[in-house]
Amino acid sequence: MLTLFTFPAYSELSVEEIIKGRQAIFSENYKNAKRVQALSSELEFEAAIELMNKMSQNYTKLIDYFPDNTKEGFDTEALPIIWENKDEFNALMQKASDNMLTLASVIEDADDIRGTLKKHMWSSCKACHSKFRMPH
Ligand code: HEC
Repeated sequence: MLTLFTFPAYSELSVEEIIKGRQAIFSENYKNAKRVQALSSELEFEAAIELMNKMSQNYTKLIDYFPDNTKEGFDTEALPIIWENKDEFNALMQKASDNMLTLASVIEDADDIRGTLKKHMWSSCKACHSKFRMPH
């Protein structure tokens, strides 16, 4: 079984496992983003920051989940443009990861919690999806 915490060499993983593996990580991040929003609104910063760090790590991990042989199949919503602009895609993923660490460092002192979450968390989703994920 593919766990979310280790990533064996590509050769050990099927295309299906890689595509489903990355979709599971995105789903986990979505779930965590909603929790981060709720916890931050309730001023539960310690728990929120833990999830922000987790999301940051997940983004870093995702960089390895787009090898060349996973462009199609298994209901992937990844667009071919990812592999034509791999550096840009990876940089966006890294930026999304870095943004979560920034968020973790500023959230407790933020005057506008919703705006801060939007700026450092939700904007990353849109920045990437608008170009690299199929409309859904
Ligand atoms: C750097 C690019 C990038 C960033 C940042 C990003 N995504 Fe995505 N996301 C993708 C791509 C590409 C897919 C399609 C993956 C596939 O189907 O193989 C995807 C798929 C998803 C899916 C569907 C997973 C499934 O089960 O099929 C969800 C949900 C999702 N993203 C949520 C988010 C949320 C929420 C954020 C921000 C908090 C986010 N993503 C940030 C690129 C990104």
